[in-house]
Amino acid sequence: MKKTIAVYPGSFDPLTIGHEDIVRRIVRLVDHLIVAVAETATQPKSGLFPIDERVELIRSAFADEPRVEATSFCGLLVDFARARKARIIVRGLRAVSDFEYEFQMALMNRSLWPEVEVLFMAPATRHTFLSSSLVREVGRLGGDVTDFVSPVVKARMDRAFERPATD
Ligand code: PNS
Repeated sequence: MKKTIAVYPGSFDPLTIGHEDIVRRIVRLVDHLIVAVAETATQPKSGLFPIDERVELIRSAFADEPRVEATSFCGLLVDFARARKARIIVRGLRAVSDFEYEFQMALMNRSLWPEVEVLFMAPATRHTFLSSSLVREVGRLGGDVTDFVSPVVKARMDRAFERPATD
């Protein structure tokens, strides 16, 4: 039988528990999920971790889930998805404010590759305010990010901001 393969693309700088929640929801629906860190993000932001470190953190966070693969890609998302035979692109939708940008990207992606479908997933309500950019800012300014990222990401953030890790 044909496997259902999906791509969950993003910047993941860093992976938050909101992303993790979306990943755990998608793997219930597909056979294989590729969490793909974009080297060519549409809206480049001031980065925290290099691409390979973001991939490594995603791998560590989902070490218990063999159907989740973490990798990076450059160039167009649809080219990557087609090459990996993934006809589903998944994006998390937190609020109405996300909608315009996501809808535009979805339609552009489908214009570029009509066979692709874009699925929007709603995260758990308690994660709807979370974003990587806010988590980066809180971490950078000395705030506690324990509630927003998994321990492996927290440890790496502490190291990046040169603070001793807390247990
Ligand atoms: O987490 P982000 O930064 O909101 O993710 C945006 C991402 C990576 C999904 C988007 O920028 C993207 O798909 N980049 C790859 C380049 C591409 O295909 N651009 C055309 C998008 S319509």
